[in-house]
This record gives sequence, C-alpha cells and structure tokens, in this order.
Amino acid sequence: MTRHLVVDTDTASDDAVALLMAVASPDVVLDAVTVVAGNVTLDKAVRNALFTLDFCGAGHVPVHAGLERPLVRPLSTASDVHGEDGMGDTGLVRAVGRAATEHAVDALVRLANEAPGERELVTLGPLTNVAAALLRDRQLLTKYRRTVMMAGSPDCVGNVTATAEFNVWADPEAASIVLEAPGERVLVGWNISRLQAVMGPAEHQRLSSLATPRARFVQEVNVKVAEYCARVTGLDGYDLPDPVAMAVALRPALVTESERVPVRVALGEELRGQLVLDHRRGAGGPGDVEVVWRVDEEAWKELLFAACAAK
Ligand code: BDR
Ligand code: CA
Repeated sequence: MTRHLVVDTDTASDDAVALLMAVASPDVVLDAVTVVAGNVTLDKAVRNALFTLDFCGAGHVPVHAGLERPLVRPLSTASDVHGEDGMGDTGLVRAVGRAATEHAVDALVRLANEAPGERELVTLGPLTNVAAALLRDRQLLTKYRRTVMMAGSPDCVGNVTATAEFNVWADPEAASIVLEAPGERVLVGWNISRLQAVMGPAEHQRLSSLATPRARFVQEVNVKVAEYCARVTGLDGYDLPDPVAMAVALRPALVTESERVPVRVALGEELRGQLVLDHRRGAGGPGDVEVVWRVDEEAWKELLFAACAAK
C-alpha cells in the first residue's frame, strides 16, 4: 500500500539526508515539504530543501515556505553546527526551482483536512509551523495518521544546552502546543541520535565504498556537524537525528523500546526546552506521546545505506 508523507523541516545537513530517505522509499509518496526557520534562516532552509529534492530527482514535490521565526522568541540558528549555508559550507548548494505560493501553515491544514487519517507527518525542525497550524485547527494532528517528531531529549542530555535539544529549545512554546495537542505522536529524541545514530568510522567506510552521488552527498553535507561533534558533543563521528526519525516514520517496526507518557516542556530560562516526562501513576491518558527509547540500529542504518545506494 502506498503511504503519503508530509515533511516539515528546517532543512540543513541531516534534514537533507532524511528527505533523501523519504524520496528513496519505494512505498512512500512525498506529498509536500513545509519549511520552517531553525538550523538556518527560512530563505536558506527553503533553498536547501529545493536543492535536495532536485538532487534526489524529486523536484516535482511542492516546497512551502513557513514561519521565519519562533512563536514568541527571537530566531536562533545553528550555523556553528551546520555551517553558514546549513549544508556544510562546501559550495554544494545551488538555487534550484521556487517555493509554492501557498504558505506552509495553510498547506499543513489543507493536507490534513483533504484526506483525514491518510497522510503521515514527519517533523524535523522547530515545531513553529505545526503549532501555528494547530492554533488554526486544534484537531489537526488527529487528521494525520500519525506524527513522528525529531524533538527534544527525553533523557535530558542536551545538544544545545546541558539538558535541551535544539528543535524544542529553539521554539519551546511551539513544542508545548504540539505535545499537548490530541493526535498520535511519536517522539524520536536526541537520546536516539546520540546513542544509535552516530556515523562513526565503520559507517564512513560503508558510505565511501558505495561511491554513489547520494553517499557522497551525505558525507559532504555533514562535514561541519562532524566538527561540531568533535568539539562539543563528543560523539565519534556525526549524528543523524532527522534521518533516524525518518527511518522510524518509514518503518515503525524499527522501534524496539518505547513508552507512552505525558510529555511537557520547560519554558523558564534556566531549563528552557528541557522535556518533562510525567511518570506518576494516573498522570497518563489519551494525550500521551510515544517516546522512543531504542531502535534497531543495524536495521535503520541499512535503510539509510539502501537509500544512498540508488544512483
Ligand atoms: C536537530 O537540530 C538540528 O541540528 C538537526 O537538524 C535536528 O533536527 C537535532 O537537535
Ligand atoms: Ca532539522
């Protein structure tokens, strides 16, 4: 059966890899890409999304530009992680095509309402667009079959502060709205990226031996992330947060351990963007989020390598 996906992204290096995986998935149709400011400013994220889709032979997929700053906070980008262009600053990115005229928030609402229960949503950036769409339609996420989010750090080991992950930290009010909304939501946090989505020397070798343009693309757009990991997060290579979230969206059976729990977001300055999981008895209910604690690492990486093997 063909599945239909909508991806909301602040397109930079690992978002681009996740888009590549969605496009390469034979049972999936990518209906639209909606873009939000985050890793880079909105204009750069739109350009990176258009370029990536074109590179993957999916230039026909509509790209909708969305909100250019978080709901209430100033925009904080992550050029120290992804480079000034968001794609590793290697001169790879070219301006290709144009964004659709429809705003991302309008597109998210329309795509949900024209086929309730049919499309799936994957979010790879700050949740600003999705929260804004939820303000328009509180039932929005009940009309997506499910929403898989790369968001937050449920074990409170952060990548942007000691305890917070970038996407939630960047727009914590938006994340709060999304985490409290009704609908089937799956959270793939930085715990998974840090522990099971690191591209170390063995994975580097595997990509090099594939020697395809897509494998080279993955390595190239992550050059700056690898430097950031060596400097700040201490990982043995570079991590791929958005691709592992995309893998879970594409193959739900990759999840080997998860729990359903209420998830809230700290909004005060000291712990801004830290996730709060409420494990008290009686705290849970229909609004719980599925928090992923473990995925099949070998299998999700095979999915990535298969996507890269395509010419
Ligand atoms: C998230 O922030 C960005 O660096 C990545 O694209 C990912 O969505 C990880 O914290
Ligand atoms: Ca992202």
